[in-house]
Parts: sequence; structure tokens; C-alpha cells
Amino acid sequence: MISIQCKDVRKCFINGKNKTEALRSVNLEILDKKLTLLVGPSGSGKTTLLSIIETILTPDEGDLFLLGQHVNKMNELEKAYFRNKNIGVVFQALHLIPTLTVLENVILPLIIKGEEENNAKKKGASLLEQLYIKEKMNLPHTQLSIGEQQRAAIARALINDPKIILCDEPTSALDQENGHAIMAILRDLASSDNRTVFVITHDHRIFPFADHIININDGIVEKKNE
Ligand SMILES: Nc1ncnc2c1ncn2[C@@H]1O[C@H](COP(=O)(O)OP(=O)(O)OP(=O)(O)O)[C@@H](O)[C@H]1O
Ligand SMILES: [Mg+2]
Repeated sequence: MISIQCKDVRKCFINGKNKTEALRSVNLEILDKKLTLLVGPSGSGKTTLLSIIETILTPDEGDLFLLGQHVNKMNELEKAYFRNKNIGVVFQALHLIPTLTVLENVILPLIIKGEEENNAKKKGASLLEQLYIKEKMNLPHTQLSIGEQQRAAIARALINDPKIILCDEPTSALDQENGHAIMAILRDLASSDNRTVFVITHDHRIFPFADHIININDGIVEKKNE
């Protein structure tokens, strides 16, 4: 099933006299249960496209459909609700909070939503167990390896059980072994849990993990390799 669809999406940034066409008529269809990579050079529009799909950036033109819903028709509050319920994001800079333990970081989105703390902790611990870092859950993330921190960030992205997982360069700071471990987890999430996993990357070592690879160049999505 198509879970992410862009129709003729355009985005331009204007700073004084400078105009950058970050996205020029992007048409995309991304399937659920699949891991799709978005690959392209620096400045080609990857993060811009991811931010639009994340619903935090509004396109100048074109239509975005997520899980069959027409995002253009949502107001800001509806978008925020949709995002919180359906989208999990993993960034290259992990944005983990150093004064909290790993478990506290992971359950933060649930606490914000008003979930009871003990329930939230049970959910968080079970997720960390699946990602093989439960024994580290009461430490601050600064005492974890980079690969373990990346898994903690994935746990936090998953805590609300989102259908769409977006990742911006999730393996670029990792060695081959940890990078492969993260990609194996992401691929597993896509295929076994009925989710859509969409990953921006420069890292050719992880191309073999993809079901589909989409190339973007100078704001234009070029081709889709099946
Ligand atoms: N807020 C902004 N204001 C002005 N220009 C911007 C803004 N955000 C992005 N751009 C420009 O839009 C183009 C696409 O940027 P984007 O961040 O999407 O690239 P990217 O493919 O993610 O690059 P990288 O691989 O370096 O992260 C670039 O030319 C960039 O300078
Ligand atoms: Mg980027």
C-alpha cells in the first residue's frame, strides 16, 4: 500500500535576492512494509523533502498524502496530532537529553502525551529489550557507545508506535558493524511490523538493506530502482 505520496511538490527558499529551488516538482510514491532510501549529493533537497513529509515544513505547491490522508487539508493542530500519532523521526544528531536516563529519554513522548509513568516505563523497557540495550536503560546516554545511543534514539522514535519512521543519516556516525545492526533493525521494523521506513543517506555501505532506492539531484527526484 502507498503510505507516502508527493504530487508535484515544490519548495523554494528566498533569502533577500537569493532564491533556491530546493525541490522542483517532486513526485513520489513510497510503500509500507518497505525500507526506502533517499540518496543524493549535499544540497540536493533531501532534508527539505524529509521535513515536508514530517509535516513540519509546508510545500509551496503540490500535494502530500500520508497514510491516505491529504495533509494539505489539515490545520497546524491537526498536523501536530497526526505527527505525534503516526510519525517517528531519527536524526543524525540524536537530540537525547543528557540529564535524563536512557529510559527517561525514550518514554518522554509518552509522558508528554499524559501516559501514566509506570505504564510508560514498562513500554520503554520492553522496546529497549528488543533493541538489546535494556541493561543500559538507567544510565545517561553519555555513558553509552554511539551505536547504543543510536538504538536509544530509535527506541524513542518508536515509543508511540508510529506507522511512518523517517531517518536522516542514521548510520553516518557509525562503523560498519553498528551501521549494519541499525539497518537490520530498521528493515525488520518495516517488514515485520507493517511500517514505512524512509531513510536519507550518503552511506553506500547500507544500500544492500534497501527494498527501494530513490535518487534526488538538484531538487529533482530522478528515478526509482526496484
Ligand atoms: N531554511 C533555508 N533557507 C534557505 N535555503 C535553504 C534552507 N534550507 C535549505 N536550503 C537550501 O535548499 C537546498 C536543499 O537543502 P537540503 O538541506 O534539503 O539539502 P540536503 O540534500 O539535505 O543536503 P545535506 O546532504 O548537505 O544535508 C540547499 O541549496 C540549501 O542551501
Ligand atoms: Mg540534509
